[in-house]
Amino acid sequence: MYRTHTCGELRIENAGNEVTLAGWVQRVRDLGAMTFVDLRDRYGITQLVVDENTDKAVADALEELGREFVIQAKGTVRERQSKNKNIPTGEVEIALSEINVLSPAELPPFTIQDDTDGGDDLRMKYRYLDLRRDVVRENLVLRSKMAHAVRNYLNSKDFIETETPVLIKSTPEGARDFIVPSRMNEGQFYALPQSPQTFKQLLMIAGFDRYYQIVKCFRDEDLRADRQPEFTQIDCEMSFVEQKDVLEMFEGLTRHMFKETLNVEVDEFPWMPYAEAMEKYGSDKPDTRFEMLINDITETVKGKDFVVFDSAEYIGAICAKGCAEYTRKQLDGLTNWVKRPQIGAKGLVYVKCNEDGTFKSSVDKFYSQDDLKAWAEKTGAEAGDLILVMSGDKKHMLDALGELRLEMGKQLGLRDKNVFKPLWVVDFPLLEWDEESKRFYAMHHPFTSPKPEDIELMDTDPGKVRANAYDLVINGVEIGGGSVRIFDSELQSKMFSLLGFTKEEAEAQFGFLMKAFKFGAPPHAGIAFGFDRLVSLFAGLDTIRDVIAFPKNNAGRDVMIDSPSAVAEAQLDELNLKLNLKEKK
Ligand code: AMO
Repeated sequence: MYRTHTCGELRIENAGNEVTLAGWVQRVRDLGAMTFVDLRDRYGITQLVVDENTDKAVADALEELGREFVIQAKGTVRERQSKNKNIPTGEVEIALSEINVLSPAELPPFTIQDDTDGGDDLRMKYRYLDLRRDVVRENLVLRSKMAHAVRNYLNSKDFIETETPVLIKSTPEGARDFIVPSRMNEGQFYALPQSPQTFKQLLMIAGFDRYYQIVKCFRDEDLRADRQPEFTQIDCEMSFVEQKDVLEMFEGLTRHMFKETLNVEVDEFPWMPYAEAMEKYGSDKPDTRFEMLINDITETVKGKDFVVFDSAEYIGAICAKGCAEYTRKQLDGLTNWVKRPQIGAKGLVYVKCNEDGTFKSSVDKFYSQDDLKAWAEKTGAEAGDLILVMSGDKKHMLDALGELRLEMGKQLGLRDKNVFKPLWVVDFPLLEWDEESKRFYAMHHPFTSPKPEDIELMDTDPGKVRANAYDLVINGVEIGGGSVRIFDSELQSKMFSLLGFTKEEAEAQFGFLMKAFKFGAPPHAGIAFGFDRLVSLFAGLDTIRDVIAFPKNNAGRDVMIDSPSAVAEAQLDELNLKLNLKEKK
């Protein structure tokens, strides 16, 4: 037996017990008459000690120990003289009688403790050492607990957990596919799934009724804090349901996870139409932890000879509570912030609502006190508040005001990580027009059903058609998305033609699905949660990298195993592939 207890287990009640522990040497402190070793494993740290009563051979063995050696230690539990109240095992220590080095260790490239001296790159290269740190491992423990809660909940609701293939054919989820050459089918390629979308729909046609899978998905897109090329979805589908049924079921799942893993009760999830989210929050993933809504003041401010506003399509404002005292420097800071290319606004107009009821604005030349009072009324600003205004193209300005709102929320400490505000964003547009390619794209994916009352518009004004699609948003993060599906092969063909597929192209890519629809397809709908995003939200982290055991860096590389990498010529030969990188250079 390697050990009788873990390093987090022993308490004062164990005093007098003969025990065997195993773990990693955190540190060795030689105080002359006594030497202490902190022994660490995943469960905690226990202090080992040798003193003048210890067998000399054991005391000598300690001299050989270095950080991160793996050892087995035998001894007697005894009460410590100076107790450590900060750790659960802090009242006891082990008087050593035997020590065995199971595995020596090279000096680690960074310290294995919460506040390590290792930089990002180094920690990624030695991720297995990084994962020894409590703060890192705890995120993975939370992830495991959450996955457990997902399975418990969905199993209790009769969902069948089903695996779908990883070597598939391209799914049109909007990103680029990762492709895999097939040796047995020369010149042909598999694609890694961007999601199991088509398979889960086929499972509904197969009569599974309720399906789920915690599944890896692959998308070859640029990396961001909330994006990895391979990530995990909680993917689900249900038959004989409407939108409301799906939202209820998955609100239930989300609540269950909050309760089971964080012991947090969240309010009922409001439903917000996409159009409202865009108008009021400038985003389809509104952070509803705070108000500061966007107000359309176009009509209120036009017609006073201020050319910038008079010539603008849209003028919008937010009201920052209690910010009338912002200094010139702070206001300049905000102006520069909105002028950055990422936001791309031309400028920022402000109105300070002074405590004495007067107003001070950056456009006093054009607007009287009465005019500014009207702005304040329109935006709900009171004495002590600051109104921030931007003008220009409506779509762009809503986006810019949405970003400014988030920035102000951050500056004012309104985005508390311990507060959770989930909501459903519903009624997304079915299609999105792309000016560059002059064609429509599916906003969600091509299997999403239009709202029945909007089907007629598909022929006359496709851009106006709303979809039975929904997103779960929590604290400004898109956690999940799904839709009611088209289950009629004719409507599906019509959708493909709106998306610019010829009959032949649709047949070649999705013939199997349209064929399946002809064999009795139940009405069905589903959703997928981004599991990594959900875990990082629960853990209060800013990037999903921290909740993935072995993530990729910003260049899409795994620097630990050094991948992607070149392959042997022979492997390429077998696939009948030839690299032409040189020619490209
Ligand atoms: P969608 O494309 O919206 O829907 O994806 C669902 C959720 O997956 C997460 N997500 C990601 N997480 C990390 N890295 C990425 N690169 C990444 N891309 C997406 C997001 C997102 O909300 N098949 C549909 C679902 C359905 O209709 O049922 C789908 O994949 O949290």
